This record gives sequence, structure tokens and C-alpha cells, in this order.
Amino acid sequence: MYKIAVLPCDGIGPEVIREGLKVLAVAAEKYGIKYETTDYDIGGDRYLRTGEILPESVMAELAEMDAIYLGSVGHPDVTPGILEKGILLKIRFEFDQYVNLRPIKLYPGVWTPIKDKGPEDIDFMVVRENTEDMYVGIGGTMKQDTPDEVALQTAVYTRKGTERIIRYAFELCRKRARKHTLHMVDKANVLTYGHGLWTRTYAEVGKEYPDIKQEHAFVDACCMWFVKNPEWFDTVVTTNMFGDIITDLGAMIQGGMGVAASGNVNPEGVSMFEPIHGSAPKYTGQNVICPIATIAAASMMLDHLGETEAAAAIERAISEALSSGKLGDLSTKSGISTTEQGDLVASLVR
Ligand code: IPM
Ligand code: MN
Repeated sequence: MYKIAVLPCDGIGPEVIREGLKVLAVAAEKYGIKYETTDYDIGGDRYLRTGEILPESVMAELAEMDAIYLGSVGHPDVTPGILEKGILLKIRFEFDQYVNLRPIKLYPGVWTPIKDKGPEDIDFMVVRENTEDMYVGIGGTMKQDTPDEVALQTAVYTRKGTERIIRYAFELCRKRARKHTLHMVDKANVLTYGHGLWTRTYAEVGKEYPDIKQEHAFVDACCMWFVKNPEWFDTVVTTNMFGDIITDLGAMIQGGMGVAASGNVNPEGVSMFEPIHGSAPKYTGQNVICPIATIAAASMMLDHLGETEAAAAIERAISEALSSGKLGDLSTKSGISTTEQGDLVASLVR
């Protein structure tokens, strides 16, 4: 019996999570998977009502779960940063979810802005480091709001943190058995200390993986190649900050935020699965957001739990739904509601 914590959170989070749970229920029934969910009322509304963000009592309960399924975080009436740091980053950091897996996969039937590229060209995995870099929250300001203001935002890279994510990426690349190519993306030509550590660690760990072709790209060039030659990529490992940025670009070449899923993984602990998109406040309650990313995140969650057949069934259903053309252009103007999209995928799993 799996215990799954459900945190729909803000904006359209509850709407997409509802469809994800619908598909999960069908897959679980079909493959005989037993699970129970616990809903948590976390997010901007609760914060505005009670001042609480993520109470320690909830953190203690999350620690006992097999997985966390999260919708989206961000509220128009809350200063940016409070909920992001207090919910998303708190969970990622405190549960040491040091791997952020972000598949960039163009499903058949999905429009990509890249001319002449198809599903066979766009199918790679970004392995984003998820606990270090500029995200650690170390820094400060001096003489704030004066012309002499000084601001520091420190990027932290540790040998342990760098090594474990690079090793994870090598192992994953070996398992994917696609092109056996790993790209390490950094900015070592400027960030000579921090990314010097990445360069040295990549070379050292790489010696253990002679079967993997080891490539390197500076982050700016990587952005160019994602668009120009996406077929070069199989597995990409990068820092937290760059991973955040290049996966929004990745989401666009795979057809948009509506299809981009992610997993925050601690291989030995509690992991969290979520769409990479935000809470889209202006569409809240309209039932127009594409739930595919959140449904795909449920598939990643099942895969992580070892339920590979059920995970693959959801992936197949997503693929079929998208190639059927019945989901329209996946935008908020597609004319196909969030509910209908979830229903279609659920029926295809069944
Ligand atoms: C993401 C988001 C988060 C991040 C924000 C909301 C803190 O953009 O998951 O990509 O920067 O990691
Ligand atoms: Mn992001």
C-alpha cells in the first residue's frame, strides 16, 4: 500500500491534480496497485488565511510518505519567493531531492516550433541538480534602497553534491540506451571556481563510464543547440540554475508547458512529482489548462515506485491521446477542457 501525499497548492494546481489522480486511479486499478492519498491544504490561500506556509507537523507527515504529488505554487497576492521558498524549495532541500528529472520529449502529434524536427529528434532527459547553486538562499543586501546598494547571492557547489548528480546522470544515460551520450552543461569559461569543480568532477567520474560518450556544452551554446540540433541530446546534466532555465526552453520545443513533467528525486528518500509549469492564476477555475504534464508526472511517480508497467501504460495513453488530435493545440484556447483531456487519457489507460 503506497502512501501518496497530494499537494494541489495554488491557482490551476487543483484542476490539473484532479486529472492526474483520475488517471492514476484507473492505472492502479488495472495493474492491481494499492495506494492511499492524503490531501494537504497548502499554498497561498492558507498562508493568507493563517500565516502558515508548510508547518513542521506536515513536514513530519510527508517524511513518512512513499511519494509527494504536487500541483503548482504561486499566488498573485503573495510576494514572489515566499511560497516558492517556503513550499517547493523547502521540500526539495529538506528531503534532499537532489535530482530533478525533466524529460524533454516531443510526443507524436504535438506541434513543435522547430521546423523539420519530429518525435525521433526530440527525446532527451535533463538531469538538473536540485539542492545547491544560487538556490541555497545565501546572500544579503547592504545599503538597501540607496544608490550604493550592494546585493550578494551566493552560488554554492560542493564536491559531494556535484559528484552525486553527475554519477546519477551517467547511470541514467546507461539505462536509457538511446545514444549513450551525456552532455554536461555549465559556464566553466566564466565561473571558473564553481564550474571548475563541475569540470573536474565530470572528467573523474567519467572515467568509470567508458561506454558513455562524454560531451560538454557551455549553457549559452546549449540553448542554441536545443533549438538547432535537439537530436544531439540524449541525457544532459547541469546545475540547478541553468537546469531551471534550459528546461523552460526544453518545454517549448516539446510542445509547451502543458506537456512538461518533472520528478524531484531522492533515490533513498521521499520524492516529489509535479508539472514544471506554474499556477497560471489568470486561468484558475476555468477548466482550460492542459493536464498532460501533471498526468505525465504521475507516470514518473509510478515508475519511481517501481510500478513500471502502470507507468508505461500512462505514457502510452498520453502518446495516443496526443497523436489522436483530439486534444487540439494544448493551449488554453484549444476548446477541449481540462476534464475532457483527463477523461480521454483515463479511457485510453483503461
Ligand atoms: C521550477 C520553478 C521553480 C524553480 C520556482 C517556482 C522556485 O521555476 O520548478 O522550475 O526555480 O525551480
Ligand atoms: Mn522553472
